[in-house]
Amino acid sequence: MKRAIAHPRGLVGATLAFAAIALTLSGSSPSIAKDTAPANVKTCDQPTTPFCDALMPPTPDWKGHVFKLAQNYPAKAPNDITPWTSFDPYTEPRQYLQAALGYFYEGNIRPNVEDSFSPKLNWVRRWYNAPWQDYGTNGREFVHGLTRERVTQPGELDPAQTKKWNNYAVGFYNAPGGEAIGKMWANHGAPNADLAQMPEGTVGAKLLFTTAPVSEVPFLAGAPEWDAYVYADPNDTNPSPTSPRAVMKVRLLQIDIAVKDSRAKETGWIFGTFVYGGGPGGQPGNGWFNVAPVGVMWGNDPGYSGTGPLTQTWLNPEVHMPHVGYQGRLNGPVDNPISSCMSCHATAELPQGTMVPPRGSDPAPWFQNIKSGTPFDAGRKPLDYSLQIEVGFVNFLQAHPVAKPKSLTLEQVQQVHVDRAKPLSRGGEHE
Ligand code: HEC
Repeated sequence: MKRAIAHPRGLVGATLAFAAIALTLSGSSPSIAKDTAPANVKTCDQPTTPFCDALMPPTPDWKGHVFKLAQNYPAKAPNDITPWTSFDPYTEPRQYLQAALGYFYEGNIRPNVEDSFSPKLNWVRRWYNAPWQDYGTNGREFVHGLTRERVTQPGELDPAQTKKWNNYAVGFYNAPGGEAIGKMWANHGAPNADLAQMPEGTVGAKLLFTTAPVSEVPFLAGAPEWDAYVYADPNDTNPSPTSPRAVMKVRLLQIDIAVKDSRAKETGWIFGTFVYGGGPGGQPGNGWFNVAPVGVMWGNDPGYSGTGPLTQTWLNPEVHMPHVGYQGRLNGPVDNPISSCMSCHATAELPQGTMVPPRGSDPAPWFQNIKSGTPFDAGRKPLDYSLQIEVGFVNFLQAHPVAKPKSLTLEQVQQVHVDRAKPLSRGGEHE
Protein backbone atom coordinates (compact mmCIF):
# COMPACT_ATOMS: atom_id res chain seq x y z
CA MET A 1 0.00 0.00 0.00
CA LYS A 2 1.52 3.30 -1.03
CA ARG A 3 1.06 6.63 0.65
CA ALA A 4 -2.14 8.24 -0.37
CA ILE A 5 -2.44 10.34 -3.48
CA ALA A 6 -4.45 13.52 -3.10
CA HIS A 7 -8.13 13.08 -3.76
CA PRO A 8 -9.13 15.04 -6.84
CA ARG A 9 -11.58 17.13 -4.84
CA GLY A 10 -8.84 18.18 -2.44
CA LEU A 11 -6.56 19.18 -5.28
CA VAL A 12 -9.20 21.27 -6.98
CA GLY A 13 -9.96 23.09 -3.73
CA ALA A 14 -6.32 23.83 -2.98
CA THR A 15 -5.62 25.13 -6.48
CA LEU A 16 -8.60 27.43 -6.42
CA ALA A 17 -7.77 28.79 -3.01
CA PHE A 18 -4.24 29.62 -4.16
CA ALA A 19 -5.66 31.21 -7.30
CA ALA A 20 -7.81 33.46 -5.13
CA ILE A 21 -4.78 34.46 -3.05
CA ALA A 22 -2.78 35.16 -6.22
CA LEU A 23 -5.56 37.42 -7.48
CA THR A 24 -5.57 39.36 -4.25
CA LEU A 25 -1.80 39.77 -4.26
CA SER A 26 -1.66 40.93 -7.85
CA GLY A 27 -3.65 43.99 -6.99
CA SER A 28 -7.29 43.08 -7.63
CA SER A 29 -9.57 44.10 -4.83
CA PRO A 30 -10.10 41.25 -2.36
CA SER A 31 -13.85 41.56 -2.78
CA ILE A 32 -13.52 40.76 -6.48
CA ALA A 33 -11.47 37.70 -5.67
CA LYS A 34 -14.14 36.64 -3.21
CA ASP A 35 -17.16 37.43 -5.36
CA THR A 36 -15.84 35.64 -8.39
CA ALA A 37 -14.68 32.58 -6.48
CA PRO A 38 -16.35 29.54 -8.04
CA ALA A 39 -19.02 27.92 -5.90
CA ASN A 40 -16.96 24.76 -5.39
CA VAL A 41 -14.06 26.41 -3.56
CA LYS A 42 -13.40 24.27 -0.53
CA THR A 43 -15.13 25.58 2.56
CA CYS A 44 -13.11 23.39 4.92
CA ASP A 45 -9.44 22.62 5.68
CA GLN A 46 -8.61 26.21 4.68
CA PRO A 47 -6.75 28.63 6.98
CA THR A 48 -9.95 30.40 8.08
CA THR A 49 -12.50 27.58 7.81
CA PRO A 50 -13.35 24.58 10.00
CA PHE A 51 -11.60 21.29 9.29
CA CYS A 52 -13.31 19.00 6.78
CA ASP A 53 -15.55 16.23 8.09
CA ALA A 54 -14.67 13.77 5.36
CA LEU A 55 -13.01 13.26 2.01
CA MET A 56 -16.31 13.42 0.16
CA PRO A 57 -19.77 14.88 0.86
CA PRO A 58 -22.66 12.46 1.50
CA THR A 59 -24.06 10.95 -1.68
CA PRO A 60 -27.19 12.90 -2.76
CA ASP A 61 -29.74 10.25 -1.80
CA TRP A 62 -28.13 9.35 1.55
CA LYS A 63 -30.55 9.32 4.54
CA GLY A 64 -28.41 7.56 7.15
CA HIS A 65 -25.78 8.68 9.66
CA VAL A 66 -23.40 11.47 8.64
CA PHE A 67 -20.02 11.95 10.34
CA LYS A 68 -19.33 15.39 11.81
CA LEU A 69 -15.74 15.93 12.91
CA ALA A 70 -15.82 16.81 16.63
CA GLN A 71 -13.55 19.87 16.44
CA ASN A 72 -14.84 22.23 19.15
CA TYR A 73 -11.57 21.55 21.01
CA PRO A 74 -11.69 22.88 24.59
CA ALA A 75 -9.38 25.71 25.66
CA LYS A 76 -9.11 23.89 28.98
CA ALA A 77 -10.18 20.30 29.63
CA PRO A 78 -12.81 20.18 32.41
CA ASN A 79 -12.20 18.13 35.55
CA ASP A 80 -13.22 14.53 34.99
CA ILE A 81 -12.95 11.12 36.57
CA THR A 82 -9.95 8.93 35.62
CA PRO A 83 -11.11 5.42 36.57
CA TRP A 84 -7.96 3.68 35.25
CA THR A 85 -5.86 5.45 37.90
CA SER A 86 -7.45 3.17 40.52
CA PHE A 87 -5.39 0.30 39.11
CA ASP A 88 -1.69 -0.40 38.83
CA PRO A 89 -1.03 -0.84 35.11
CA TYR A 90 1.88 -3.25 35.74
CA THR A 91 0.15 -5.59 38.19
CA GLU A 92 -3.53 -5.06 37.28
CA PRO A 93 -3.34 -4.54 33.50
CA ARG A 94 -6.69 -6.19 32.79
CA GLN A 95 -8.59 -4.04 35.29
CA TYR A 96 -6.72 -0.94 34.10
CA LEU A 97 -7.68 -1.51 30.47
CA GLN A 98 -11.26 -2.43 31.33
CA ALA A 99 -11.60 0.81 33.35
CA ALA A 100 -10.34 2.84 30.37
CA LEU A 101 -12.80 1.06 28.06
CA GLY A 102 -15.67 1.76 30.47
CA TYR A 103 -14.75 5.47 30.39
CA PHE A 104 -14.69 5.42 26.57
CA TYR A 105 -18.04 3.60 26.39
CA GLU A 106 -19.84 5.85 28.89
CA GLY A 107 -22.36 7.98 27.00
CA ASN A 108 -21.06 6.71 23.65
CA ILE A 109 -23.06 3.47 23.49
CA ARG A 110 -26.56 4.26 22.28
CA PRO A 111 -29.63 2.09 21.63
CA ASN A 112 -29.12 2.77 17.93
CA VAL A 113 -25.84 1.22 16.74
CA GLU A 114 -25.48 3.80 13.97
CA ASP A 115 -25.74 6.69 16.49
CA SER A 116 -23.21 5.17 18.89
CA PHE A 117 -19.89 7.03 19.26
CA SER A 118 -21.32 10.32 17.94
CA PRO A 119 -19.57 12.88 20.17
CA LYS A 120 -22.40 15.41 19.87
CA LEU A 121 -24.86 12.93 21.41
CA ASN A 122 -22.66 12.13 24.42
CA TRP A 123 -23.87 14.05 27.50
CA VAL A 124 -21.41 12.40 29.91
CA ARG A 125 -18.22 13.79 28.38
CA ARG A 126 -16.90 15.24 25.16
CA TRP A 127 -14.71 13.32 22.72
CA TYR A 128 -12.83 14.87 19.80
CA ASN A 129 -11.53 13.75 16.41
CA ALA A 130 -8.13 14.56 14.96
CA PRO A 131 -8.14 16.89 11.91
CA TRP A 132 -6.74 16.28 8.44
CA GLN A 133 -7.46 12.55 8.23
CA ASP A 134 -9.79 13.41 5.32
CA TYR A 135 -7.14 13.17 2.67
CA GLY A 136 -5.90 10.76 0.02
CA THR A 137 -6.87 7.22 -0.91
CA ASN A 138 -7.37 6.21 2.73
CA GLY A 139 -9.07 9.39 3.96
CA ARG A 140 -12.24 9.58 6.06
CA GLU A 141 -15.50 8.46 4.47
CA PHE A 142 -18.67 10.43 5.14
CA VAL A 143 -20.88 8.02 7.15
CA HIS A 144 -18.69 7.42 10.23
CA GLY A 145 -15.42 9.18 9.43
CA LEU A 146 -13.61 5.89 8.89
CA THR A 147 -10.11 5.85 7.43
CA ARG A 148 -8.74 2.86 5.58
CA GLU A 149 -6.31 0.73 7.57
CA ARG A 150 -3.87 -2.10 6.99
CA VAL A 151 -5.26 -4.99 4.90
CA THR A 152 -5.75 -8.27 6.75
CA GLN A 153 -3.88 -11.22 5.21
CA PRO A 154 -5.44 -14.72 4.93
CA GLY A 155 -5.47 -16.51 8.29
CA GLU A 156 -4.51 -13.44 10.31
CA LEU A 157 -7.92 -13.01 11.92
CA ASP A 158 -9.10 -16.62 12.08
CA PRO A 159 -7.97 -20.00 10.72
CA ALA A 160 -11.15 -20.00 8.56
CA GLN A 161 -10.14 -16.78 6.76
CA THR A 162 -9.02 -17.40 3.17
CA LYS A 163 -9.10 -13.93 1.58
CA LYS A 164 -7.53 -10.52 2.13
CA TRP A 165 -9.97 -7.96 3.57
CA ASN A 166 -9.99 -4.21 3.90
CA ASN A 167 -10.28 -2.68 7.37
CA TYR A 168 -11.45 0.79 8.44
CA ALA A 169 -11.24 2.77 11.69
CA VAL A 170 -12.14 5.98 13.51
CA GLY A 171 -10.25 7.47 16.44
CA PHE A 172 -11.28 9.74 19.33
CA TYR A 173 -9.46 11.76 21.98
CA ASN A 174 -10.82 12.76 25.39
CA ALA A 175 -10.78 16.41 26.50
CA PRO A 176 -7.09 16.57 27.58
CA GLY A 177 -6.14 15.23 24.13
CA GLY A 178 -8.65 17.60 22.52
CA GLU A 179 -7.11 20.54 24.37
CA ALA A 180 -3.67 19.64 22.95
CA ILE A 181 -5.06 19.27 19.41
CA GLY A 182 -6.77 22.66 19.71
CA LYS A 183 -3.49 24.31 20.72
CA MET A 184 -1.30 22.73 18.05
CA TRP A 185 -3.92 23.52 15.40
CA ALA A 186 -4.98 26.94 16.78
CA ASN A 187 -3.98 28.40 13.42
CA HIS A 188 -5.63 26.17 10.79
CA GLY A 189 -3.20 27.46 8.20
CA ALA A 190 -0.01 26.89 10.23
CA PRO A 191 -0.11 24.06 12.79
CA ASN A 192 2.59 24.02 15.46
CA ALA A 193 4.32 20.67 15.98
CA ASP A 194 6.12 22.03 19.06
CA LEU A 195 2.84 21.73 20.98
CA ALA A 196 2.26 18.03 20.22
CA GLN A 197 3.03 16.82 23.75
CA MET A 198 -0.13 15.19 25.19
CA PRO A 199 -1.08 16.03 28.80
CA GLU A 200 -1.33 13.47 31.61
CA GLY A 201 -4.71 11.72 31.47
CA THR A 202 -5.02 11.87 27.68
CA VAL A 203 -6.98 8.90 26.34
CA GLY A 204 -6.90 8.01 22.65
CA ALA A 205 -9.33 5.32 21.55
CA LYS A 206 -9.91 3.78 18.16
CA LEU A 207 -12.68 1.53 16.85
CA LEU A 208 -11.56 -0.80 14.05
CA PHE A 209 -14.04 -2.41 11.70
CA THR A 210 -13.51 -5.08 9.09
CA THR A 211 -15.19 -5.89 5.81
CA ALA A 212 -14.51 -9.59 6.51
CA PRO A 213 -17.78 -11.54 6.84
CA VAL A 214 -18.78 -13.90 9.66
CA SER A 215 -18.33 -16.85 7.28
CA GLU A 216 -14.59 -16.11 7.20
CA VAL A 217 -14.25 -14.84 10.75
CA PRO A 218 -16.80 -16.74 12.91
CA PHE A 219 -16.02 -14.88 16.14
CA LEU A 220 -17.53 -11.73 14.57
CA ALA A 221 -21.06 -13.18 14.92
CA GLY A 222 -23.11 -10.62 16.87
CA ALA A 223 -20.63 -7.77 16.32
CA PRO A 224 -22.06 -4.25 15.98
CA GLU A 225 -22.26 -3.36 12.28
CA TRP A 226 -21.87 0.13 10.85
CA ASP A 227 -22.71 1.47 7.43
CA ALA A 228 -19.62 2.94 5.77
CA TYR A 229 -18.87 4.41 2.33
CA VAL A 230 -15.96 2.12 1.58
CA TYR A 231 -14.23 0.72 -1.50
CA ALA A 232 -16.86 -1.48 -3.09
CA ASP A 233 -14.45 -4.39 -3.57
CA PRO A 234 -13.57 -5.38 0.01
CA ASN A 235 -10.74 -7.60 -1.26
CA ASP A 236 -9.08 -4.84 -3.32
CA THR A 237 -5.78 -4.39 -1.49
CA ASN A 238 -4.64 -1.47 -3.63
CA PRO A 239 -7.55 0.86 -4.40
CA SER A 240 -7.04 4.24 -6.06
CA PRO A 241 -9.02 7.44 -5.38
CA THR A 242 -11.17 6.64 -8.41
CA SER A 243 -12.00 3.04 -7.41
CA PRO A 244 -15.75 2.60 -6.95
CA ARG A 245 -17.19 3.04 -3.49
CA ALA A 246 -20.44 1.85 -1.96
CA VAL A 247 -22.19 1.97 1.40
CA MET A 248 -21.55 -1.45 2.92
CA LYS A 249 -21.70 -3.01 6.38
CA VAL A 250 -18.47 -3.24 8.35
CA ARG A 251 -18.16 -5.22 11.60
CA LEU A 252 -16.48 -4.25 14.89
CA LEU A 253 -13.24 -6.25 15.17
CA GLN A 254 -10.84 -4.40 17.49
CA ILE A 255 -10.76 -1.51 19.98
CA ASP A 256 -7.44 0.22 20.66
CA ILE A 257 -6.77 2.36 23.71
CA ALA A 258 -3.76 4.52 24.59
CA VAL A 259 -3.48 6.31 27.95
CA LYS A 260 -0.90 8.94 28.92
CA ASP A 261 0.11 7.87 32.41
CA SER A 262 3.26 9.06 34.19
CA ARG A 263 3.31 5.84 36.22
CA ALA A 264 4.47 4.13 33.01
CA LYS A 265 8.15 4.82 33.66
CA GLU A 266 9.46 3.26 30.43
CA THR A 267 7.52 5.36 27.91
CA GLY A 268 4.87 7.49 29.62
CA TRP A 269 2.09 5.57 27.85
CA ILE A 270 -0.02 2.45 28.36
CA PHE A 271 -1.40 0.75 25.22
CA GLY A 272 -4.05 -1.95 25.21
CA THR A 273 -6.43 -3.60 22.80
CA PHE A 274 -9.65 -5.62 22.69
CA VAL A 275 -10.86 -8.16 20.15
CA TYR A 276 -14.51 -8.73 19.34
CA GLY A 277 -16.03 -11.96 20.67
CA GLY A 278 -12.76 -12.95 22.36
CA GLY A 279 -11.20 -14.02 19.04
CA PRO A 280 -11.11 -17.60 17.66
CA GLY A 281 -12.92 -20.01 20.00
CA GLY A 282 -14.35 -17.16 22.11
CA GLN A 283 -17.73 -17.22 23.83
CA PRO A 284 -20.69 -16.31 21.61
CA GLY A 285 -22.49 -13.05 22.41
CA ASN A 286 -23.51 -9.80 20.81
CA GLY A 287 -23.27 -6.03 21.05
CA TRP A 288 -20.56 -3.57 22.03
CA PHE A 289 -19.76 -5.24 25.35
CA ASN A 290 -18.82 -8.61 23.86
CA VAL A 291 -15.14 -7.73 23.57
CA ALA A 292 -12.17 -9.29 25.39
CA PRO A 293 -8.78 -7.75 26.17
CA VAL A 294 -5.97 -9.14 24.01
CA GLY A 295 -3.36 -7.49 26.20
CA VAL A 296 -1.65 -4.40 27.54
CA MET A 297 1.87 -3.05 27.02
CA TRP A 298 3.87 -0.24 28.58
CA GLY A 299 7.26 -0.91 26.97
CA ASN A 300 8.91 -2.88 24.18
CA ASP A 301 11.05 -5.24 26.30
CA PRO A 302 14.28 -3.97 24.69
CA GLY A 303 16.85 -6.69 24.19
CA TYR A 304 14.34 -9.54 24.61
CA SER A 305 15.78 -12.64 22.96
CA GLY A 306 12.47 -14.27 22.01
CA THR A 307 12.42 -16.87 24.77
CA GLY A 308 11.10 -16.59 28.31
CA PRO A 309 8.44 -14.22 29.57
CA LEU A 310 8.05 -10.65 28.38
CA THR A 311 7.99 -8.19 31.27
CA GLN A 312 6.43 -5.13 29.55
CA THR A 313 3.58 -6.86 27.69
CA TRP A 314 0.69 -8.62 29.42
CA LEU A 315 -1.30 -10.98 27.19
CA ASN A 316 -4.73 -12.26 28.22
CA PRO A 317 -4.32 -16.06 28.59
CA GLU A 318 -7.99 -16.59 27.62
CA VAL A 319 -7.59 -15.09 24.14
CA HIS A 320 -5.86 -17.06 21.38
CA MET A 321 -5.27 -14.89 18.34
CA PRO A 322 -3.54 -16.33 15.26
CA HIS A 323 -0.89 -13.67 15.85
CA VAL A 324 0.03 -10.82 18.16
CA GLY A 325 3.16 -8.69 17.61
CA TYR A 326 6.88 -9.31 17.16
CA GLN A 327 8.13 -12.08 19.48
CA GLY A 328 4.84 -12.05 21.38
CA ARG A 329 4.70 -8.35 22.17
CA LEU A 330 1.24 -6.81 22.05
CA ASN A 331 -0.40 -6.09 18.73
CA GLY A 332 -4.01 -6.15 17.62
CA PRO A 333 -5.76 -8.47 15.13
CA VAL A 334 -5.44 -5.88 12.33
CA ASP A 335 -1.81 -5.06 13.07
CA ASN A 336 1.39 -6.16 11.41
CA PRO A 337 2.86 -9.19 13.23
CA ILE A 338 6.42 -7.85 12.82
CA SER A 339 5.64 -4.76 14.94
CA SER A 340 3.98 -3.89 18.25
CA CYS A 341 1.66 -1.11 19.35
CA MET A 342 4.55 0.80 20.87
CA SER A 343 7.23 0.03 18.27
CA CYS A 344 4.99 1.70 15.72
CA HIS A 345 3.60 4.56 17.83
CA ALA A 346 7.08 5.48 19.15
CA THR A 347 7.92 6.56 15.58
CA ALA A 348 5.41 9.45 15.71
CA GLU A 349 7.60 12.40 14.67
CA LEU A 350 8.18 15.00 11.97
CA PRO A 351 9.49 14.38 9.40
CA GLN A 352 7.53 11.15 9.44
CA GLY A 353 9.42 8.16 10.89
CA THR A 354 9.49 4.66 9.41
CA MET A 355 6.77 2.82 11.32
CA VAL A 356 7.76 -0.79 10.73
CA PRO A 357 11.30 -2.25 10.49
CA PRO A 358 12.01 -2.49 6.74
CA ARG A 359 12.61 -5.98 5.40
CA GLY A 360 16.17 -7.14 6.09
CA SER A 361 16.94 -4.39 8.64
CA ASP A 362 17.86 -4.90 12.31
CA PRO A 363 14.55 -4.55 14.20
CA ALA A 364 16.25 -3.60 17.49
CA PRO A 365 15.86 0.20 17.08
CA TRP A 366 12.07 -0.22 16.88
CA PHE A 367 11.97 -2.21 20.11
CA GLN A 368 13.66 0.31 22.39
CA ASN A 369 11.74 2.18 25.04
CA ILE A 370 11.43 5.73 23.76
CA LYS A 371 10.37 8.18 26.46
CA SER A 372 7.48 10.50 25.73
CA GLY A 373 8.98 13.73 24.40
CA THR A 374 11.95 12.03 22.70
CA PRO A 375 11.95 11.62 18.91
CA PHE A 376 12.47 8.21 17.34
CA ASP A 377 15.17 9.65 15.04
CA ALA A 378 17.63 12.15 16.51
CA GLY A 379 16.95 15.72 15.42
CA ARG A 380 13.29 15.25 14.47
CA LYS A 381 10.25 16.61 16.28
CA PRO A 382 8.63 14.09 18.63
CA LEU A 383 4.83 13.81 18.35
CA ASP A 384 4.32 11.91 21.61
CA TYR A 385 3.21 8.50 20.30
CA SER A 386 0.26 10.12 18.47
CA LEU A 387 0.10 8.86 14.92
CA GLN A 388 -3.15 10.56 13.98
CA ILE A 389 -1.40 13.81 14.84
CA GLU A 390 1.50 12.77 12.61
CA VAL A 391 -0.77 11.72 9.73
CA GLY A 392 -2.65 15.03 10.04
CA PHE A 393 0.55 17.09 9.85
CA VAL A 394 1.92 15.04 6.95
CA ASN A 395 -1.34 15.38 5.01
CA PHE A 396 -1.43 19.11 5.69
CA LEU A 397 2.15 19.52 4.44
CA GLN A 398 1.41 17.46 1.36
CA ALA A 399 -1.59 19.64 0.54
CA HIS A 400 0.38 22.85 1.12
CA PRO A 401 3.62 22.55 -0.80
CA VAL A 402 4.42 26.20 -0.08
CA ALA A 403 3.13 26.52 3.46
CA LYS A 404 5.40 25.64 6.34
CA PRO A 405 4.39 24.99 9.95
CA LYS A 406 6.07 27.48 12.28
CA SER A 407 8.21 24.94 14.00
CA LEU A 408 9.73 23.18 10.99
CA THR A 409 12.89 24.17 9.20
CA LEU A 410 12.76 24.27 5.42
CA GLU A 411 14.96 21.16 5.27
CA GLN A 412 12.47 19.31 7.44
CA VAL A 413 9.57 20.34 5.25
CA GLN A 414 11.44 19.13 2.19
CA GLN A 415 12.27 15.88 3.97
CA VAL A 416 8.55 15.40 4.62
CA HIS A 417 7.95 15.58 0.91
CA VAL A 418 10.71 13.04 0.25
CA ASP A 419 9.28 10.77 2.94
CA ARG A 420 5.74 10.98 1.73
CA ALA A 421 6.01 7.84 -0.37
CA LYS A 422 6.02 5.94 2.94
CA PRO A 423 3.15 3.66 3.86
CA LEU A 424 0.28 5.29 5.71
CA SER A 425 -0.78 3.05 8.44
CA ARG A 426 -0.16 0.01 10.54
CA GLY A 427 2.64 -1.47 8.50
CA GLY A 428 1.32 -1.27 4.99
CA GLU A 429 4.69 -2.59 3.72
CA HIS A 430 2.96 -5.93 3.87
CA GLU A 431 1.11 -5.06 0.72
C1 HEC B 1 2.41 -0.49 12.23
C2 HEC B 1 1.89 0.68 12.84
C3 HEC B 1 0.86 0.60 13.97
C4 HEC B 1 0.68 -0.36 14.93
C5 HEC B 1 1.41 -1.67 15.05
C6 HEC B 1 -0.36 0.11 15.77
N1 HEC B 1 -0.80 1.32 15.37
FE1 HEC B 1 -2.11 2.52 16.35
N2 HEC B 1 -2.10 3.81 14.77
C7 HEC B 1 -1.26 3.73 13.70
C8 HEC B 1 -1.49 4.86 12.82
C9 HEC B 1 -0.74 5.15 11.51
C10 HEC B 1 -2.51 5.61 13.42
C11 HEC B 1 -3.10 6.94 12.90
C12 HEC B 1 -3.90 6.78 11.67
C13 HEC B 1 -5.12 5.99 11.87
O1 HEC B 1 -5.82 6.14 12.88
O2 HEC B 1 -5.37 5.18 11.02
C14 HEC B 1 -2.87 4.93 14.64
C15 HEC B 1 -3.81 5.39 15.54
C16 HEC B 1 -4.02 4.86 16.80
C17 HEC B 1 -4.83 5.48 17.84
C18 HEC B 1 -5.52 6.81 17.74
C19 HEC B 1 -4.68 7.83 18.49
C20 HEC B 1 -3.30 8.00 17.91
O3 HEC B 1 -2.31 7.84 18.65
O4 HEC B 1 -3.14 8.27 16.72
C21 HEC B 1 -4.74 4.63 18.92
C22 HEC B 1 -5.39 4.86 20.28
C23 HEC B 1 -3.93 3.50 18.55
N3 HEC B 1 -3.51 3.67 17.27
C24 HEC B 1 -3.64 2.46 19.40
C25 HEC B 1 -2.91 1.33 19.00
C26 HEC B 1 -2.79 0.13 19.79
C27 HEC B 1 -3.40 -0.09 21.16
C28 HEC B 1 -2.02 -0.73 19.07
C29 HEC B 1 -1.65 -2.14 19.39
C30 HEC B 1 -2.71 -3.04 19.77
C31 HEC B 1 -1.65 -0.06 17.84
N4 HEC B 1 -2.21 1.19 17.83
C32 HEC B 1 -0.82 -0.60 16.88
C33 HEC B 1 -0.29 2.79 13.48
C34 HEC B 1 -0.11 1.66 14.26
